[in-house]
Amino acid sequence: MGKPVTIKINGREIQADSDQYVLNVAMDHGIFVPHYCWHPGLPPEGNCRMCLVKVSTSRKLEVSCMTRCADKLEVDTEVPEVQKARKDVLEFLLINHPLDCPICDKSGECMLQDFTYNWRGGLSRFLGLQEKNIRPTKDLGPNIRFWGNRCVVCTRCVRFMSEVSGSGQLSVVQRGDHCSIDTAPGVTLDDPLSLNIVDICPVGALIDKEFLYQARVWYTMRTPSVCASCSTGCNITLTTLDGKIKRIQPRLNQEVNGYWMCDDGRRHFGYVHSERRLTERIGTPDEAARALRSVVERHGPGAVAALCSAYNTCEELNLFKEIFDSLGVTQVGFLTATEGQDRTFKNGFTIRADKTPNAAFLTRLFGEQKVLEGSNKIVSLVADDKIKLLFILNGLPDRHFPRALRDLAGRVEELILIDILKSPLSERANVLLPGAAWAEKSGTFVNAQGREQTFKAALTPPGEAMPESKLLSEISLALSAVPAK
Ligand code: FES
Repeated sequence: MGKPVTIKINGREIQADSDQYVLNVAMDHGIFVPHYCWHPGLPPEGNCRMCLVKVSTSRKLEVSCMTRCADKLEVDTEVPEVQKARKDVLEFLLINHPLDCPICDKSGECMLQDFTYNWRGGLSRFLGLQEKNIRPTKDLGPNIRFWGNRCVVCTRCVRFMSEVSGSGQLSVVQRGDHCSIDTAPGVTLDDPLSLNIVDICPVGALIDKEFLYQARVWYTMRTPSVCASCSTGCNITLTTLDGKIKRIQPRLNQEVNGYWMCDDGRRHFGYVHSERRLTERIGTPDEAARALRSVVERHGPGAVAALCSAYNTCEELNLFKEIFDSLGVTQVGFLTATEGQDRTFKNGFTIRADKTPNAAFLTRLFGEQKVLEGSNKIVSLVADDKIKLLFILNGLPDRHFPRALRDLAGRVEELILIDILKSPLSERANVLLPGAAWAEKSGTFVNAQGREQTFKAALTPPGEAMPESKLLSEISLALSAVPAK
């Protein structure tokens, strides 16, 4: 922390800190200064010159992203000489930039496109007559393709790799107008956070290969959501088009994920559109309720076991607990999923080993000891033929489902399954109710920090599938309509 200072931007008095840069203060107060190399999640570098402003302490224009606030400093962001400087910087950047907006995936969210439109005035002194510098287009790694011609060498990506991820897999190569970014010879850009550089690239130089030519962004819908791929619970935006997820991007939450998310979280949505999605019911919630009531009455609550996964929302887990508490069933097991160890990066961003979004709430609801037991107790009760009816509320993408349980489920008389993907279990279920994937429902997850985060549905569930909270509510209602004898 520096000392408090008062500065004036465009005649407006603003309280700031002497450690802050003028650009940060201006942006925080709704005064937009165009910029390329500055990003609020990265250390400033001051290389693009787009943020030039007039300051009272200097005869020449200064880059606002590297100018510290000082008491009584006066800043002008819109005077004619600043406007001219912007225009000139843009002309300089456009000398070698291709005019390929119609086929560029960044089109519609490109800062070069927007700033050119706003400040360049549509005029060119080059008219396509000069020779452009050609820089190669190439794959940098499994996820990212690089268009050298579009790069403005703002080095956001290079700084992300060194300061946020810490892998340092990218650097600036060559000099002058041959300058570009690249990996070292023989190095593949395979950093687990690599796709963040696609988001922060201000132009279309770094492109996500899976999003390549998939959609014009102005036709897409964007829904704020929460990532379900690990217990960090990154805040995300789902980009959808024609009922399909096209990409997942991080949404700013300084308390959880900052500006970032991991590649695994972005890629883990294929199962939502899988051909293996369950879309047709067998039976109804009413029949599920009757089967539950009947087994409890004939054999007692000890003949019923229930399993739920940490992929379900807080609302669904509350309903699940209420149903089995009301029946007096105590054999409840849990489906969780852990892979490897937590991985923390240079800036503190963590990819969790817990690959479910709501294990913290499961623990809050049922107690840590019980959740740690997982499904083991239920598996052995089923193996010992002690269970007549097994109720499963799953929702885990199937790479996490316990094999032993799949093999044993045929031993119970009644299997009631609420799930999203076809499996050997769904083939054996007496009552099968297709559920909704996380992107198809609204609800709340509690992340590893204990933070409750709500999210909204971005898509409609396929066929007869519907949110589990609706299915469980119907079962609960049906149970209360058939009172115990
Ligand atoms: Fe200030 Fe690039 S944003 S020089």
